[in-house]
Amino acid sequence: MAMKQRKPTAIKKAKTGSVVKVALLGFGTVGSSVARVLASSKFSGVELTHIFNRNIERKRSSEAAIALPASVIWTDNIDHILRSDVDIIVELMGGLNPVEGWIRSALAAGKSVVTANKQLIAYRGSGLAKLAEQYHVHLVHGAAVAGGVPVIPGMLQGLSGDQVTRLSGILNGTCNYILSRMEAGADYATVLADAQQLGYAESDPSADVDGFDARAKLCILSRIAMHAELDPDAVATQTISAIEAIDFSYAKELNSTIRQVSRAELDGKLVHARVAPMLVPLVSPMAWSHGTQNMVVVSGKFGGDVVFSGHGAGGEPTAVAVISDLLAVAQGCKTVRLPAKKREVTGDFLAPHYLRFVVDDKPGIVFAISGALSKVGANIDSILQRRGYPKHRLPFVVTTEPCLTSTIERALASIARMDCMLERPLSLQMLEIEDKAE
Ligand SMILES: NC(=O)c1ccc[n+]([C@@H]2O[C@H](COP(=O)([O-])OP(=O)(O)OC[C@H]3O[C@@H](n4cnc5c(N)ncnc54)[C@H](OP(=O)(O)O)[C@@H]3O)[C@@H](O)[C@H]2O)c1
Repeated sequence: MAMKQRKPTAIKKAKTGSVVKVALLGFGTVGSSVARVLASSKFSGVELTHIFNRNIERKRSSEAAIALPASVIWTDNIDHILRSDVDIIVELMGGLNPVEGWIRSALAAGKSVVTANKQLIAYRGSGLAKLAEQYHVHLVHGAAVAGGVPVIPGMLQGLSGDQVTRLSGILNGTCNYILSRMEAGADYATVLADAQQLGYAESDPSADVDGFDARAKLCILSRIAMHAELDPDAVATQTISAIEAIDFSYAKELNSTIRQVSRAELDGKLVHARVAPMLVPLVSPMAWSHGTQNMVVVSGKFGGDVVFSGHGAGGEPTAVAVISDLLAVAQGCKTVRLPAKKREVTGDFLAPHYLRFVVDDKPGIVFAISGALSKVGANIDSILQRRGYPKHRLPFVVTTEPCLTSTIERALASIARMDCMLERPLSLQMLEIEDKAE
């Protein structure tokens, strides 16, 4: 759709004291919370004028709509919004299509955009930011990572003066809920079912448990903090669904627990990045983060480590982040924008590794495994074997001294082919305290 270019109106109106008009796209979990908070808090200078959603009558007659002013125009026709005189569009629908096209049309029509859409920003953020610049409007996405925790505004406003070289954190509340409950003794299938019932996990939980949601967020943070533009599809992910109760027992013996960790490190023109379940030392703040909490540790050359933590998701915490962005745009606040460069990605990290095998026990197995590891140059640090398991299905753990993840993967490819192996071996990076990722 060809829209006429307009000069930005939001800043001008705020200056003259008149009201900035706001349209909401999407009246779901976050959208309805944003509408409710806007209606109850009555922020001066902004007015919710339009709400767009498909099947709009269902939304207009829902309980969430009761507290909203009668003046709000409800529509399921996107053109009503794009051709209206609203100044700011708040996009809370999610996904790439058709949202990307609508956001492009809105920016081209001179409307600023606030969004919490991590997929859109991870995959299309750079292009949309250029478009916003071209049309002299704002594109702000502070709620796209860690929901109610102001990681993105904190990085933009408070850490732009540093050279950030490393990021790590817990970026997916669903995985953190599942793993922290497994740490307390529950099994994966039960906790996943609970997470689905509580609305923390989708009926298809893959985006969360397989790491794709956290990967999109890691790419957004890498762009903002390290000015490194990563192809999200090139970032290695590993599912948490292979983690079992026994892994928490062995992790405890190693003074650690297990969390889904997203980490990225700048290494010249290369970025090491991975989203995977990892062993986290019990003394690390990441080990103390339970339930749906999010946590991000940013390591800068000059400022050292800064930790952000809090409720990463949920309608109201995320609404707070969205409305804070909205108020900033309505008041014409300028965010820091530093150019990002495209960077190659590797999933390799130099780290000790935790390897869990389940075998039909026979003499010589440890010898064969250590032979395969030493063949690729990996040194064993310890071997752990708990009592009480049958010899025909024996789980045991080998930890290695620091070596590259790809080196371990080469050894595991040959170990997995051994006749005694009953399951695919599990390999987890072990975070070290001196990693300063903690
Ligand atoms: N939920 C959180 O805690 C959280 C935290 C941080 C960021 N976010 C982000 O915030 C955004 C919204 O999340 P949410 O949890 O509020 O999602 P949600 O509950 O599924 O709400 C999305 C809303 O948008 C509507 N919608 C979706 N596609 C549409 C389309 N093509 N045309 C018209 N309406 C459409 C949906 O309508 P129907 O009801 O008909 O499906 C629904 O009302 C997403 O980008 C998400 O990643 C969410």
